[in-house]
Amino acid sequence: MTSPADPAPSAATSATSADPAAGSKPAPRKDPWDLPDVSALTVGVLGGTGDQGRGLAYRLARAGQRVVIGSRAAERAEQAAAELGAGVEGADNAECARRSDVVIVAVPWDGHAKTLEALRDDLAGKLVVDCVNPLGFDKKGAYALKPEEGSAAEQAAALLPDSRVTAAFHHLSAVLLADPAVEEIETDVMVLGEVRDDVEIVQALAGRIPGMRGVYAGRLRNAHQVESLVANLISVNRRYRAHAGVRLTDV
Ligand SMILES: NC(=O)c1ccc[n+]([C@@H]2O[C@H](COP(=O)([O-])OP(=O)(O)OC[C@H]3O[C@@H](n4cnc5c(N)ncnc54)[C@H](OP(=O)(O)O)[C@@H]3O)[C@@H](O)[C@H]2O)c1
Repeated sequence: MTSPADPAPSAATSATSADPAAGSKPAPRKDPWDLPDVSALTVGVLGGTGDQGRGLAYRLARAGQRVVIGSRAAERAEQAAAELGAGVEGADNAECARRSDVVIVAVPWDGHAKTLEALRDDLAGKLVVDCVNPLGFDKKGAYALKPEEGSAAEQAAALLPDSRVTAAFHHLSAVLLADPAVEEIETDVMVLGEVRDDVEIVQALAGRIPGMRGVYAGRLRNAHQVESLVANLISVNRRYRAHAGVRLTDV
C-alpha cells in the first residue's frame, strides 16, 4: 500500500503537450475502473460538524462506509453524528484521527495549520485527504488565496511528515450532499497525491458514492489550481443559482 507511485504518464505516452496520448499507441486504461476495495476502511472527518464534513460523512455512511466525525468538542461531534444517523460516530478531532484509516480534513482554511499541527502524532501513518479551499471573499465575490506552501494540501504535507497526504473533494456542493432526496451526486472528484496506491484508495472512496467518480489529477504541487477552481464554481453558482460540480470528459 505504500510503494512509491509513478502517477506520471508512461514513457509511451509522456509528452510536453496537454494531450499526452495524442499520436501514440493508447496505453491500457486500468484506472479509474479497477480500484481497491475500501469498504472495510474507517473514514474520519476533521471538522465533521460543518457543512462539508457532515455532507461527506452522510454520503459515505449511506454508502456503507464506517465514518467517525471529529470536532474540537466531542459533544458537538456526538450530537452531529446522532443527527446524521446511518451509523456515523462522533469524537473529538484527535480521537477521530486515531480511530480512522483515512482522515478527511474539512476545517476552514483559517484553522487548517493549527489543527493539523496539533494532530501530527494522531495522524501519523494515516491517509490524510485535504479538501480545504483557501479562499478570500470581497465585494467582487470569492477569490483564491495562495498559501506560502503553494496550497492547503502542500501545507498539510509539510506539517504532517509522517502521514500520507492527498487532496480531493474540493468541488462538492454541501447542499447536494446533505439533501437526502438527492440519490446521486453527479460529479467527478479530482484526486491529487504523490503515491499511486494512496490516490487509488481516495478514488475508490469517492466511487462509493453513487454518481461520483474519483479521477487522478496530479501531484500535490498542482493542488493550488484545483483548490482555487472553487472560486469559479462559486461564481457559477451565484449567477445560475446552481450547485455546480465538475465532469472530466474522455476519461
Ligand atoms: N461547504 C462546502 O460546500 C465545501 C465544499 C468543498 C470543500 N469545502 C472545504 O471544506 C472545509 C470546511 O467547509 P465548511 O463549509 O464545512 O466549513 P465550516 O462549517 O465553517 O467549518 C467546519 C467545522 O470546522 C470547525 N472549525 C471552525 N473553525 C475552526 C478553526 N478555526 N479551527 C479548527 N476547526 C474549526 C467547526 O467544527 P467544531 O466547532 O465542531 O470543531 C466547523 O463545524 C473548508 O476548508 C472548505 O474550503 C467546503
